[in-house]
Amino acid sequence: MQVALVGCGRVATSLALALLRRKDETWRPTAFFVRDPASPRAHEAAAATGLQVQPLARAAARVDSETLLLIAVADRAIADVAAALAAQGVHPAGAAHTAGSMGKEALAALAASGVPTGSIHPLQTVAQPDPDVFTGAWCCVDGDAALRLVLEALASALGMQPFSVPADARPRYHAAAVLASNALVALAAAAAEAMPLSDGLSPLLPLMRRTLANLEHMGLPNALTGPVERGDLTTIRRHLEALRDLRSAARAYRALADVTVNVALRKGTLDADQATALRTLLGAHAPGDGGDPDGKADHDTQTRADETGR
Ligand SMILES: NC(=O)c1ccc[n+]([C@@H]2O[C@H](COP(=O)([O-])OP(=O)(O)OC[C@H]3O[C@@H](n4cnc5c(N)ncnc54)[C@H](OP(=O)(O)O)[C@@H]3O)[C@@H](O)[C@H]2O)c1
Repeated sequence: MQVALVGCGRVATSLALALLRRKDETWRPTAFFVRDPASPRAHEAAAATGLQVQPLARAAARVDSETLLLIAVADRAIADVAAALAAQGVHPAGAAHTAGSMGKEALAALAASGVPTGSIHPLQTVAQPDPDVFTGAWCCVDGDAALRLVLEALASALGMQPFSVPADARPRYHAAAVLASNALVALAAAAAEAMPLSDGLSPLLPLMRRTLANLEHMGLPNALTGPVERGDLTTIRRHLEALRDLRSAARAYRALADVTVNVALRKGTLDADQATALRTLLGAHAPGDGGDPDGKADHDTQTRADETGR
């Protein structure tokens, strides 16, 4: 099957590179269709893949009924691009977009003109064009029955594990992906800011890598370690004081320590009283939310924690 890509950004170019590398007639990338073939990004995609970059406005003349269209444009543009393709009378074998938060309904305009529609979302972060990026990832697929089988086969050919979520759960599915990936980058930024070194990130990377390995091998909640897991209020109070002037890091610390309390409760290393004491301490240190400026809550929670023997 021929595969034409709409857009020439990171995902479209990575898909093209990964398919080209297979040297497999089953999935033969043919061209990029883009809004501006003269853009620097279009030149880069052409140079990286050797594929032609064609104007999106003339896709109808070049896309036939043997071609699968993969629409990898910005989420906000998907419905408009589908409408523009439908208005041209494009009639491919099927069309699928690569966004996570929406299913095939984003391509309603093409569906209305009789094109089988679907979506194929690599559950992976694609920060630059890379033919290897899909290998080992999961891939959320939906679509009209026959197209869905095609998309599952494509995901497998790219080394991904196809799966599906209910249509109404797509935003929640994508929110989970954002927490696992984008929020991890934000968390690294907050941690690097707190690290008292000019390059705050480098010393944290082995720690982050091992944490991911522990998650992989031990799972949740067993991978959790640290002062919340140990119910160590004294250390946490010290952290909160140290982060007082680092607003972003302090907010991230408090919000995630609150989530960490839940994980520690699941792990069974905290009891309900210790959890309450920790949450009181975290709330008491939240600036501007009516916290306890005298540290009385700290004292009280420490006393309660001491009473629990921790
Ligand atoms: N990056 C990731 O980690 C990742 C992972 C999985 C799925 N996805 C999904 O894959 C899709 C593409 O993401 P990306 O990261 O590859 O984006 P990207 O690198 O920013 O590229 C976006 C592409 O969309 C095109 N575009 C934007 N607005 C357009 C419009 N109005 N009409 C026509 N083309 C338009 C851009 O064209 P110009 O070059 O002319 O600006 C560019 O080719 C998105 O749906 C995204 O949610 C991304």
